Amino acid sequence: MIHVRDLKKTYGAFEAVKGVSLDVAPGQIHGFLGPNGAGKTTTIRMIAGLLKPTAGTVTIDGHDTRVAPEAAKAALGFIPDRPYLYEKLTAREFLAFHGGLFGMSDAEVDHRSDELLGLFELTRWGGELVESFSHGMKQRLVMCAAFLHRPRAVLVDEPMVGLDPRGALLIKDVFRAMAKKGVAILMSTHTLEVAQEMCDAISIILGGEIIARGTVAELQAQAGTADGQLTPVFLKLTGGRGFQEIDDAV
Ligand SMILES: Nc1ncnc2c1ncn2[C@@H]1O[C@H](COP(=O)(O)OP(=O)(O)OP(=O)(O)O)[C@@H](O)[C@H]1O
Ligand SMILES: [Mg+2]
Repeated sequence: MIHVRDLKKTYGAFEAVKGVSLDVAPGQIHGFLGPNGAGKTTTIRMIAGLLKPTAGTVTIDGHDTRVAPEAAKAALGFIPDRPYLYEKLTAREFLAFHGGLFGMSDAEVDHRSDELLGLFELTRWGGELVESFSHGMKQRLVMCAAFLHRPRAVLVDEPMVGLDPRGALLIKDVFRAMAKKGVAILMSTHTLEVAQEMCDAISIILGGEIIARGTVAELQAQAGTADGQLTPVFLKLTGGRGFQEIDDAV
């Protein structure tokens, strides 16, 4: 569903993404992990068609984003790390605007808005201006917008940031239900417990390159860690600081 081949992005002499390839099949949740500045957001924005790759190809639901950007975008739902919302619109107006971009009829938008505002517990805020929303409410509204047109592939950059425990749990359940229905999900996250719990496969990016890929068990084997948690695996593969170094610096 999501096919990425040898994707590159350079800024001047700096190579932010150095040839990333990955595939997410229908019904799969693929975790995209890596330290700050590793190239996750840059990669995701290129897949979403918001940032022009220096090289490489992206195919969404069979549509090459360079050849058929509109068809690729129609199959895609994107939840950015720092969502941009029109503060002077109400939640429902924002969804109507978003639905319009995807060619949805007013009736379809109304129906889906009812469904999704209900799911994300925003029904009573539907008529309120976005500027009055808390951070977590904005996050949930962005998710309503991303799912409005029933995308076949979903890209999500840090879904759990700013969500309360109940909201985070809801998102996990929503992603699981979508995957069950055949949606392909690519999710960047620093919440490793979430990645461990939800992802069918994980790619770890470091310095713009994929350095490890596989199921949690495969990554554990690669890191040679017996521990059941993903955090020591991640630190081993990406190089965490030792305590002595921290102790010296503070
Ligand atoms: N417009 C830009 N111009 C120059 N460098 C950029 C630009 N955008 C991103 N970079 C650089 O590319 C690298 C990758 O950034 P990116 O935002 O993709 O990281 P990330 O993995 O999403 O990190 P985080 O976990 O902090 O979100 C960083 O070194 C960043 O400084
Ligand atoms: Mg990022």
